This record gives sequence, structure tokens and C-alpha cells, in this order.
Amino acid sequence: MARTPLMAGNWKMNLDHLEAAALVQKLDWTLKDLKHDFSRVEAAVIVPFTDIRSVQTLVEADEMKIKYGAQDVSVHDAGAYTGEISTAMLTALGCTYVVVGHSERREYHGETSQLVGQKAKKALDAGLLPIMCCGEALEIRKAGTHVQYVLGQVEEMLSGLTAEEVAKSVIAYEPIWAIGTGEVATPENAQEVCGAIRTKVAELFDRATADALRIQYGGSVKSANVKDIMAQPDVDGALVGGASLKADEFAKIVTYLG
Ligand code: PGA
Repeated sequence: MARTPLMAGNWKMNLDHLEAAALVQKLDWTLKDLKHDFSRVEAAVIVPFTDIRSVQTLVEADEMKIKYGAQDVSVHDAGAYTGEISTAMLTALGCTYVVVGHSERREYHGETSQLVGQKAKKALDAGLLPIMCCGEALEIRKAGTHVQYVLGQVEEMLSGLTAEEVAKSVIAYEPIWAIGTGEVATPENAQEVCGAIRTKVAELFDRATADALRIQYGGSVKSANVKDIMAQPDVDGALVGGASLKADEFAKIVTYLG
């Protein structure tokens, strides 16, 4: 089955709403100049909550094909949850994607794979597509138990989802030791874990579900290394942090096929 690769730029806590509009505008021009075919490779920006409205206005006014989404979402519908943002608020702003369980949320906000699975379910119920993150810390990699560890995270994240829901979701494998460190996993490292995730999904659900699910690699992806990573059979895109903050660089990543 042909899976459409997804290049998603995770801006993290960078760029205010004015800077967001400038970057999306520049990204769109650059991709148009490069005659990018969005049906071949999808491009999305995953922006701070405060930027979403500006990005929506721009994308709709200029009929851009760039998609956008949020970096987190609440498991609650509404009410006394100070600081949280609901799935309904995100769909009202036209979001397509929402990242759940990024390692920074896990580390600084104590998010567990169980909670991440609940957030993914909530997102899917609202018509949003979750990008569920997983990945091991350096000690686990050094101990050689990374595959087993990541598959444990995946099993827990997917435990409340149906096959149909998993098929339209995205899993991002992001080894923590490769995030923001400049230390990129080798294409073989990425394939080892992404391939194991797909096999696990086939076991938990069925082959068709595993074949439909998109699995991204994330961690120090840039234009210089994206091609080799994307050449791996089970890597269907990248979740890009630092390199997504520059329009030219991110456009090169999106157009890696040439
Ligand atoms: P990086 O971040 O590309 O800056 O390593 C990736 C991520 O955390 O999604």
C-alpha cells in the first residue's frame, strides 16, 4: 500500500503569531517556487496554540495546501481545567493534526503512554489525526533494550484504539538522545524501530492496519540527512524540530524527493 509521507514541523515553544504568519507565508512561497506536489508528500506545521488562528487565517485566505496542528490537547471536553485546550477548540480552528506524548511532554509534564493513548482517542473522536510520539532515552539505547521499550509504549498508546483509528493515525519514533542534539539516528537505527513498530501493529491489529499507519522518524532531521532516512521502507515521514523553524531548510526537507 502506498503511504503518503508526512513532513511535520514541530515548532515547539518558538515564534509568536506574527512570526508564525511570516514563516508559513515564506514556506508556502518556497514550496510553490519548487513546484512541490502536496499529493506526493504532505507538509504540516505543528505550532503553539497562540499561533493557530493566524496560521488558519493565512492558509484559508491563500488556499494553501500546508496543513497545521497543535502540540498537545486535553483529554477533557470542557470545564475547570486551567491552561488546557480541548479537541473542539482545535477543530474549530481547522487543525488537521495534533501531536500527543512528545518526549518533552513526557519529561516535563509527567505524561504516560496511557495518557497519550487517551489523548489520541480524544483527538480521533473529534476528527483530528494524532501524531503519537514514542522513543527511548540514551540509557535504554545503551542497554540494547530500545526496541522492546518502544514497542511497550506503542502497545499502551494503541490499547484503546480500533484498527480503523490506528490506520489513520501517525506514530512518530523519536529517540530522545537524537532530539535537538545534532545526533541523528542512522537510517538503519530508524528502520529497525519503525519496522518493529509496524510488525507489532500487524500483530495487535492486522496487516492492512499496519500497512496504512504512517510512521515518522524524528530527531535532528535536516535537509542533509532526510533522503537516506526516507529511503527506509518503514519510515513514512519526519517530525522535524529545529530545522522546521527556517522556511528554506524545511522546504528542502519537504521536497526531498526533488
Ligand atoms: P529536532 O526535534 O529535530 O530539533 O531534533 C525533533 C522533535 O523533537 O520533534
